[in-house]
Amino acid sequence: MPNHLDRIFKLFQDVLVKLKVELENGVRLAWPTPIFNKKYENTEELNRRLVEIILEKEKIDVGNAKSIAGGWHSSEDVHSWDYPEIKTLIGFITDAITELTKVSAGVESVQFGADTTFIAWANILRKGGYHKIHTHPGCAWSGVYYIQAGADERAEDAPEDAGHIEFFDPRHGVEMVPVPGNPFGQRLSFPPEEGRLYCFPAWLRHMVNPYHGNSERITIGFNIRIENFENFDNS
Ligand SMILES: [Fe+2]
Repeated sequence: MPNHLDRIFKLFQDVLVKLKVELENGVRLAWPTPIFNKKYENTEELNRRLVEIILEKEKIDVGNAKSIAGGWHSSEDVHSWDYPEIKTLIGFITDAITELTKVSAGVESVQFGADTTFIAWANILRKGGYHKIHTHPGCAWSGVYYIQAGADERAEDAPEDAGHIEFFDPRHGVEMVPVPGNPFGQRLSFPPEEGRLYCFPAWLRHMVNPYHGNSERITIGFNIRIENFENFDNS
């Protein structure tokens, strides 16, 4: 069963603010896609414990293939594992969703009722392992937290973006007509880093390039579902 994040939006007032999409030179950015990208500090001990917990679980959980190739995808019940380290991680995820909701809605703070649930799972990638391109249907936000990057053991001949998570430009047909600078239709590549969390719209197509390290790459993925919410008008 998914966990309930009761009132994750601990917010104080409904102050509407303008999204920063109106530039000073007369240009407006339309349909920006928010990606939460934050490195949490002092996570060494947290990550060390999470590695221990996940490697123990792998011994007893046959897992679930999903989008992963060349690795292990745990059962989707990490959120219910009863460890303080998992609670800390849930706090990080709550931060991410709160910030993404504020930016996406164009408000400085929000407070509304909603049934917010999430699931989380652990991933272990081993040399040559990768995640195929995918989305997370039915969910609002998805993300990943890096516990053990393994990047320092990257093979000499591996590409620079080996093991990076990549996001695909979601705008339909943007790559059809070339323009100077080739700004449209490019993939965004983000490196792994221990203690870093990425969170993004669940509809944003993404993949993980083949990992070339010799040690295990360990992450926790998660999906957030938000239902029965009171809408608010940001126009
Ligand atoms: Fe994913």
